[in-house]
Amino acid sequence: MRRPILAGNWKMNTCRESAGSLAAAIAEQVPASRDDVEVIVCPPAVYLDSVLSAASGSGLQVGGQNASDQDPGAFTGETACTMLTDLGCSHVILGHSERRQFYGECDGVVNSKTKKALASGLKAIVCVGELLEQREAGETQAVLESQMTGSLADLSADDMTSVVIAYEPVWAIGTGKVATNEQAEEAHVCLRTWLEGRFNSDVAAATRILYGGSVKPDNAAGLLSQANVDGALVGGASLKPELFIPIIDAGAATVA
Ligand code: PGA
Repeated sequence: MRRPILAGNWKMNTCRESAGSLAAAIAEQVPASRDDVEVIVCPPAVYLDSVLSAASGSGLQVGGQNASDQDPGAFTGETACTMLTDLGCSHVILGHSERRQFYGECDGVVNSKTKKALASGLKAIVCVGELLEQREAGETQAVLESQMTGSLADLSADDMTSVVIAYEPVWAIGTGKVATNEQAEEAHVCLRTWLEGRFNSDVAAATRILYGGSVKPDNAAGLLSQANVDGALVGGASLKPELFIPIIDAGAATVA
């Protein structure tokens, strides 16, 4: 049984006050004893500390949205993975399509960051997903396999206990164009099959694969009830408790 993960990617949003109050509202829904689902929020780096304070004592986990593949040193503007663990973060999102698209991150960079995150004690949420033109050209499976091969290069089956995959079709991110339940399930099956071939059937059965891209309260139940969809990585709807909490509830309903 794969425990669902509902993760909020706040992107470059919120301010000090709203980050704290948003985290507090979500933390209220996630007591330390909650064991049906895992809930994670990933605020902007500068607000991590206040979000961690708001989440303190609850079961709400906190992650970074990106991190460096380098150890601490002369890397202006970067955040080391060990700095995230030092603060108390449990996770880091790596290879989000906005990082790939706007900051030129290729699979090789995502791979070095993933290795550094795992070595620092973080769990990595590694994002993959095809562009609209790639889907229309029938290249979805090839693109996903190539991103997985590059992003997870050199990792062992043991390393995979600290890796979560997020399937985020780029055409569905922030566009309101959600993948259909069938499109999501088909991509997740493709990713799970790849995991089995590259690692083994235990890794394929245990790895959580999240769907991301315009997840909202009204489509969450359908997506999350797909056999191979183990949670959601939520952007816009994670910024409002009245939208994110029903998505948490939809995840919990799949294990009830
Ligand atoms: P969205 O973003 O839910 O706003 O589409 C998802 C993501 O980019 O992680």
